Amino acid sequence: MTELPQTMAAFVLHQHGGMEAQQFHTDWPVPQPGPDDVLIRVGACGCNNTDINTRTGWYSKSVTTATDGAAAQTVQGQDDPAWGGSPIRFPRIQGADAVGRVVALGANAPSDLLGKRVMLDCWQRDWSDPLNRDKTGYFGSERDGGFAQYTTADYRNTHAIDSPMTDTELATFSCSYSTAEGMLARAEAGQGDHVLITGASGGVGSALVQLAKRRGAFVIALSSPAKQDALKALGADVTLDRAPPDLAAALQAATGRATVDVVCDVVGGDDWPQIIEVMARGARFACSGAIAGPMVTLDLRTLYLRDLTFHGSTVVPPHIFTDLLGYIERGEIKPLVAGTYPLSELPAAQTAFMDKAHIGNIVVLPEAG
Ligand SMILES: NC(=O)c1ccc[n+]([C@@H]2O[C@H](COP(=O)([O-])OP(=O)(O)OC[C@H]3O[C@@H](n4cnc5c(N)ncnc54)[C@H](OP(=O)(O)O)[C@@H]3O)[C@@H](O)[C@H]2O)c1
Repeated sequence: MTELPQTMAAFVLHQHGGMEAQQFHTDWPVPQPGPDDVLIRVGACGCNNTDINTRTGWYSKSVTTATDGAAAQTVQGQDDPAWGGSPIRFPRIQGADAVGRVVALGANAPSDLLGKRVMLDCWQRDWSDPLNRDKTGYFGSERDGGFAQYTTADYRNTHAIDSPMTDTELATFSCSYSTAEGMLARAEAGQGDHVLITGASGGVGSALVQLAKRRGAFVIALSSPAKQDALKALGADVTLDRAPPDLAAALQAATGRATVDVVCDVVGGDDWPQIIEVMARGARFACSGAIAGPMVTLDLRTLYLRDLTFHGSTVVPPHIFTDLLGYIERGEIKPLVAGTYPLSELPAAQTAFMDKAHIGNIVVLPEAG
């Protein structure tokens, strides 16, 4: 095997903040795999809101606004800016969605992983207690991620993938699709359910469209008008504007029903009460994000008089990721790559990502090394 370099290119986060908080280095040490780890040469790494929210500290309770980057102004000095409520350690290499090839093994890692192209389950677990959600961390948050030429991961998070898709295409899946599949599983979305999806053109939303269709659901996608044709091509049965003046009437006109059985929401914000009002008796709601704002108003009478069930969904069980690998390998879901940037242009990639003119995901490519 070719000798591994001592140093590498990496985008490193030095503190919470705006784009200036992360810096491109060309002489960052190549990480050493621990006994349970593998060393991966990163081929591609997707962008996602989780990395941006962690950088800006949006998860802090001190922030109550949309994920527009302004959180970075208010979060300095807070002790809860990461997803799990605990501070993260700096310097930190972010990048949850790494795809690459295993180039070295820790002592306990199985030898058949060496040389394999791999995808990573972002949820680090305590492998003696893997279902304990309190004992989890996230790739690129509680340990270094994929915005670098090399990264390490526990071998039990590292899965060989057999697919004709490119690394760039595979790098759109892990975070968004695990989140989406976890939401659909928790809400028990299935055959014939009318499933309403907010933010349907985004990474999680476009995953929800495909994965809900895969389950045989009738999919209603909310999105800005320019992106609706693409969502129909992806499988959405009906597309509606992201905030129609009267959602129930719009549903009635488009589907023959003014209600839905499942809501999968990653948007929240000011329009949130409207999506709750269209939930049928006994309907299920799953939330994994709040890009338009985390503070919403709920009429508790709607919740209890209509027998609704609400699920928060973040830490998903390990089978969600291995199920996802099967869907990819069998060609049941397809990637949506909106663009690629070299790793050195990560801020430009994240700026484009935050502009939301795209559908699907934007991927960063570490230079060969
Ligand atoms: N819990 C988890 O494990 C987890 C994992 C991944 C992501 N998330 C969260 O899920 C949310 C969505 O993530 P994502 O990666 O799918 O996002 P994304 O790719 O950025 O897409 C979000 C979409 O939401 C729509 N939108 C509606 N109102 C918006 C507003 N006020 N501001 C911006 N966009 C708005 C936009 O589509 P239109 O222009 O078509 O309306 C946009 O494309 C984020 O809050 C993220 O943090 C959670």
